[in-house]
Amino acid sequence: MAWIRIDQTGTELKDESEVRAFLDRYNIRYERWPLEDRVSPDASPEEILEAYAPEIERLKEAGGYTTADVVAITPETPGLKELIVKFGQEHTHSEDEIRFTLQGSGVFYINPETDPVFAIYVEAGDLLGVPAGARHWFLLCEDHHIRCIRLFQDPSGWIAHYVDHPTHSTFMPVCWGPQYVPPETIDRKKLSLE
Ligand SMILES: [Fe+2]
Repeated sequence: MAWIRIDQTGTELKDESEVRAFLDRYNIRYERWPLEDRVSPDASPEEILEAYAPEIERLKEAGGYTTADVVAITPETPGLKELIVKFGQEHTHSEDEIRFTLQGSGVFYINPETDPVFAIYVEAGDLLGVPAGARHWFLLCEDHHIRCIRLFQDPSGWIAHYVDHPTHSTFMPVCWGPQYVPPETIDRKKLSLE
C-alpha cells in the first residue's frame, strides 16, 4: 500500500484513510486494484490490459484517457541511467500521469509549491494519478524494477516540461520499503544517481 513521507517535518502517513485524505487535498488519485487474483503480474501486456479492462474503462470515462499500455523497467533496460536521470528531475506534464504498479516499487515526489514537498511510495497494487501541471519527479527503488500500466490522454503529448528552479537535488533519493531509510545511508552510486 502507498504511504507518504514529508521530509521537512518528518511526518509519515501509513494509515490508508490518512493517505487517501492527504492525497485528496492535492487532487492526486489513489486506488488499490486487485493483483494475483485477477492476472499474473508476469502476464503479457495484452493479457494485463484485458484483465484490468473494467478499471481502465472506468478511468478512461472519468479522465478522458484514450489509450493504455504496459511498461517495465528492470536493471537490464537499455539506457537505464538516462531514464533514471530523466524521471528524477522535477517536471510537469500537460496531462495527468496515471500509473498502476503491477510489480516492483518506486517513489513519486510531489512539490505542491505552497506546501512542503512530499514523497509517495508506491508498490504493486497501487494506482496513482499525478494531475496535469503538478510539479513532481520519480525515483526507482534500489532494485531498479517496476512494471506499470500507463494511461494517456494523448501519448504523443506526454512529455516532461522541466521546471525553473527545481528542488529535486535538495532531496536525497530516498526510496524505502516498510522501513524508512535515512538519507545518509543511501548509496547514490548504486541508485545510478551519480
Ligand atoms: Fe512525470
